Amino acid sequence: MSKQIQEQIKSLTQKINEWNKEYFENQKLLFDESTRDQLKKQLQKLENEYPDYQFQNSPNLTIGARLSNDFDKLKHKTPKKSLQDVFSTSEIIDFFERVNKSIPDQKHSYFLEPKLDGLNVTLWYEKGVFKKALTRGNGLIGEDITHTISTINSIPKNLNLDIDLEVTGEVFIKKEDFHRINESQEQKYANPRNLASGTVRQLDPTVAKERNLQIFLYNLAQNNLKDPPKKQSDVLKTLKLLNFPVNPNSQEINAKEDLNEAILYYTDQKNNFEYEIDGLVIKLDNLVNQKKLGFTAKTPKFAVAYKFPAEKQVTKVNGITLQVGRTGNITPVAELDPVLVAGSTIKRATLHNFDELYNKDVRIDDTVIIHKAGDIIPEVVEVVLDLRPKDSKIFQKPSLCPACNSNLVHEEGLAALKCINFYCPAKLKNQLSHFTSKKGMNIKGLGQSIVDILYDNQIVENFADFYNLQEDSFQGLEGFKSKRINNLLDAIKKSKEIELFHFIYALGIPHLGEQMSKEIAENITNKFLSNQDSISVQDLLIILQTQLTTDYLESLEGFALKSAFEIIEYINSEFLSKQLEKLKSINFVFELPSLNQKSTNTALANKKLVFTGTLLKTGRSEAKKEAEKQGAKVLSAMSSNVDFLVAGEKSGSKLKKAKELGVKVLTEQEFIDLIN
Ligand code: IVH
Repeated sequence: MSKQIQEQIKSLTQKINEWNKEYFENQKLLFDESTRDQLKKQLQKLENEYPDYQFQNSPNLTIGARLSNDFDKLKHKTPKKSLQDVFSTSEIIDFFERVNKSIPDQKHSYFLEPKLDGLNVTLWYEKGVFKKALTRGNGLIGEDITHTISTINSIPKNLNLDIDLEVTGEVFIKKEDFHRINESQEQKYANPRNLASGTVRQLDPTVAKERNLQIFLYNLAQNNLKDPPKKQSDVLKTLKLLNFPVNPNSQEINAKEDLNEAILYYTDQKNNFEYEIDGLVIKLDNLVNQKKLGFTAKTPKFAVAYKFPAEKQVTKVNGITLQVGRTGNITPVAELDPVLVAGSTIKRATLHNFDELYNKDVRIDDTVIIHKAGDIIPEVVEVVLDLRPKDSKIFQKPSLCPACNSNLVHEEGLAALKCINFYCPAKLKNQLSHFTSKKGMNIKGLGQSIVDILYDNQIVENFADFYNLQEDSFQGLEGFKSKRINNLLDAIKKSKEIELFHFIYALGIPHLGEQMSKEIAENITNKFLSNQDSISVQDLLIILQTQLTTDYLESLEGFALKSAFEIIEYINSEFLSKQLEKLKSINFVFELPSLNQKSTNTALANKKLVFTGTLLKTGRSEAKKEAEKQGAKVLSAMSSNVDFLVAGEKSGSKLKKAKELGVKVLTEQEFIDLIN
């Protein structure tokens, strides 16, 4: 065990040092900065538990960068420390409590500043004249970067007072400049911080000038001011009076009372700032008290840096399990050491399919980086290969279904491994909960976990069984009181009156989403049902079997031939016939799509529309409804037949495709303007 821990400490130390070297000396990003932070935290935890194993060159013992030979070295007038990182409000409250304990009987207030993701720089003034600019370097000795920093116009070259001064702040590049510069750059910079660092270290100041460096000052070190400020909030005021640029987005807070609100505010606003911030710096406001608290070897005791929740996280794969989906696809899932990602605890992450698993080469006991894809679904981004145990083994593809033991099928050209047994219990449970789901029969209170209970107790085994449930069907099941049962039975009864497309969706036909079900329901109504207001379940099946041909399915955008075959196989299966045979006796009343009520005189009349991304103002389903009301046809897939793509926040592949196909793209606001 101890050998294993020693190894782990060694490889973490090497990995982080390598990252630091590339980052600080060559402005290269080996992997994401938040991942580096997480690895550093893991190392710190191990070093705290096993201090004897800490290496001399531990990144937790050193500050900042090694010095380059390109610049003159200057000794700092006062040592430049770093900040202790914290990652949660409870760690900030711990910090408040440490302060309360060291300086009791006072109500402390704090000053909160955005933590600019830039480069720490110190400026020297003599008798009111700007003399030198230095990097933090190793905290004791910095590099002379006066030539590039002098290009920053907002730095006063002469002060309005005849004083000696040492001020510190952050040099940064605005997001818009970062994008502009990166566009013209062959070797792209990973982030604005990297670019700022690379720019400050340019030998040629004209390059720096073009790049529009910015600076905010936040610290007044040595000075011979007559009446120096006594609080951090006043430091900023003094700096401002001296004509230094300071960040206007700072605020005083009353310890615990204002903390949550402030964090929420900055977390919400951070993307609206012109510059990148990666957290908040929380400083004890009273400078006398700051001095009383002093420093540890590396960091001040009077301030902490709160880092925004990582959108990526590092964790360990404890196992790989297999999930059987509704249509039989086998999905490998990484079972993880629980970690907090963007605000929620993640224990599992999908690996999608075996191609993906082998491409990423995820193995049990690996250290992996995870994130939330589209901010929702946890996904493994990559394996940290350097931390892989020596004896690790490739995960073997299964040959049997983990739920029903039947042979799995791997179709040519398809990534998925499939269980093709229609009666596989895992598939059936998913089919049943798909049937009751909101987009399907919309039976409230019948989610996956209850469907599982009903199936496992042999109470419900097919779609029709839901409609035969009675109060005593639930006898002996834990948690089913009479009120809950009656609500469920009511919801089931209510679901008998439903729009046709919901029923088509509920049947669980492979590849048929809500939108496609709508299109099919509309086509069927047009063709067969325009003179009638009802259809039986049996007739519906016959229509589906005759209408959903490969030609028809291919004419609906977005279907590959393989998918069409899968659909046809399912609607002609004995399984579906039996399900519908049993549903025959239930008196469904299908609402048919109203065909002729659509507006024809709107900008969207008869236009084909696709939505993508998050619509912040309208919401996706509202927007769809409104577009349909105005006579538009909302499709699910992009093709050249589409008239408009409405692209919300975080639009991905559809936006790219629209641009390739020359399809007109509307922003959410443009769409709103069009429908109003
Ligand atoms: S105060 C004793 N205030 O964060 C150190 N630092 O992780 C005093 N930073 O080296 C630093 N914004 O480069 C302070 N408002 C701010 C800051 C800030 C960004 C950087 C700074 C520092 C690093 C520590």
